[in-house]
Amino acid sequence: MLTLSILPIITLLIVMGILLVLLDYFYRSNVPYNWIYAVKKGKVSKKLKKLRRSYPFKSRFYIFWLQNERLKSDKIPGAFAEVGVYRGDSAAILHALDPERELHLFDTFTGFPASDLEGETGEAATYTTDHFADVDVENMLKRFDDKDKIHIHKGCFPETTVGLEEKRFAMVNLDADLYKPTKAALEFFYPRLSPGGVILIHDYNDKWPGIIKAVDEFVLNIPENLVLMPDTVRL
Ligand SMILES: C[S@@+](CC[C@H](N)C(=O)[O-])C[C@H]1O[C@@H](n2cnc3c(N)ncnc32)[C@H](O)[C@@H]1O
Repeated sequence: MLTLSILPIITLLIVMGILLVLLDYFYRSNVPYNWIYAVKKGKVSKKLKKLRRSYPFKSRFYIFWLQNERLKSDKIPGAFAEVGVYRGDSAAILHALDPERELHLFDTFTGFPASDLEGETGEAATYTTDHFADVDVENMLKRFDDKDKIHIHKGCFPETTVGLEEKRFAMVNLDADLYKPTKAALEFFYPRLSPGGVILIHDYNDKWPGIIKAVDEFVLNIPENLVLMPDTVRL
């Protein structure tokens, strides 16, 4: 009788054990070792762990995180910036990575400017001025813990860079989807990068010919290499 009643429990424990081993294997095989180590050592904030869980583009998250770890250990000075903010998904990560840094956020916050959509091909040709127009900036700002570090530059980039000519930047994230603001952003930020700083450019792929064009034109005239990364791989 005893053997009969204990058998289902033992079976359940074995199944649970196998599931845990599989989950652990899946987690470890898809997560950078440095992240696992940093979490284990208590070096990752609760906020950042939460953002990682909810952010669908894990590869992009780890690229932000690894770049920030390098900037910290190399003591690279400068602000963070993003062109193409929308409701602040990636901006929230940039802020959580280093809440002490100034974070400059550039967007119309009312959608794509009509003049920037002209001549776009690929996925961007399907866009209208209504896309990404549904933003409440006050609501978006609630995502940031230290609002003093957040600088909102509302309007059409690059017009909104006036007065920032002397700023220096450590990490810049470009996610404007279109040729004109991406080219303008490379022209503005590249000469203002701190030595060791980094510009990350989203959507460098065949779906977004405007981004490829802007980047390819720009990198022809600089000594640095373009480094391709698996930005949007979903795990
Ligand atoms: C793909 S969304 C950004 C997504 C955002 N990074 C996120 O994590 O959700 C692209 C944004 O670029 C902005 N944008 C495109 N061209 C712009 C320009 N010339 N000036 C300002 N904002 C622009 C749009 O308003 C839109 O919010």
